[in-house]
Amino acid sequence: MNIILLGPPGAGKGTQARFLVEERGMVQLSTGDMLRAAKDSGTEMGNRVADVMARGELVTDEIVIGLIREQLEANPTKSYIFDGFPRTLAQAVALKDLLGEMGQSLNAVVEIQVEDEALVARIAGRATCAGCGEVYNDTSKPIPADGKCENCGSTEFKRRPDDNEDSLRTRLMEYYKKTSPLTGYYFAFDLLKSVNGMADLPEVKRQIADVLSDA
Ligand code: AP5
Repeated sequence: MNIILLGPPGAGKGTQARFLVEERGMVQLSTGDMLRAAKDSGTEMGNRVADVMARGELVTDEIVIGLIREQLEANPTKSYIFDGFPRTLAQAVALKDLLGEMGQSLNAVVEIQVEDEALVARIAGRATCAGCGEVYNDTSKPIPADGKCENCGSTEFKRRPDDNEDSLRTRLMEYYKKTSPLTGYYFAFDLLKSVNGMADLPEVKRQIADVLSDA
């Protein structure tokens, strides 16, 4: 089963993708993670995208489609979670073509709906384990009192440079201008499923399992 997790910054896409990886053995393809890895490794492309990401703008379609193509070739499976991709109509069309070349297609697009006010609080409170990528939140899922990641025991946690108010405003504008129209696109293909991302983590997870059960 191939699915897209669609939603604004902070909606919970990465968090829910990790649950699906753990429970269903799906392969998570997060363009945000790929771009951050390129940035950290100091490649020419990484240096080019660093400023764009820090401002909260979208990286070019050409770069992200190239990254997805590489990952599809490197991780052959029939069970992908696309997290943060596609974000534009051009990316959506490219994904359809790439999957088509592999004899595959999308089974569902899960839209995680969250109110804008809640997104700001979630982004401001996010911390990620440097060891395994487990996602924490100062309010809804605090780092354990002993300061160790519950998953891997690491004591190092990272806050993203683009998790600040200015960048978040741009990220939200980019989402509403370029990405949210994809809900209509996928509705027309009868692939769109929506869940209430305002619910707590286990409930969102349950709703996703529910909508995927008939995908
Ligand atoms: P990316 O890394 O994809 O960031 P994003 O879409 O802005 O999404 P986030 O990772 O911020 O949020 P999320 O929905 O995964 O939420 P999370 O689970 O962490 O992209 C970063 C940048 O890269 C972009 O701005 C762009 O520049 C570039 N880029 C990436 N892909 C691109 C593409 N395809 N095209 C062009 N450019 C691209 O949760 C957030 C917080 O909330 C956490 O603290 C979590 O614990 C908490 N939380 C989650 N669920 C709940 C819940 N139900 N209740 C309470 N708290 C919750």
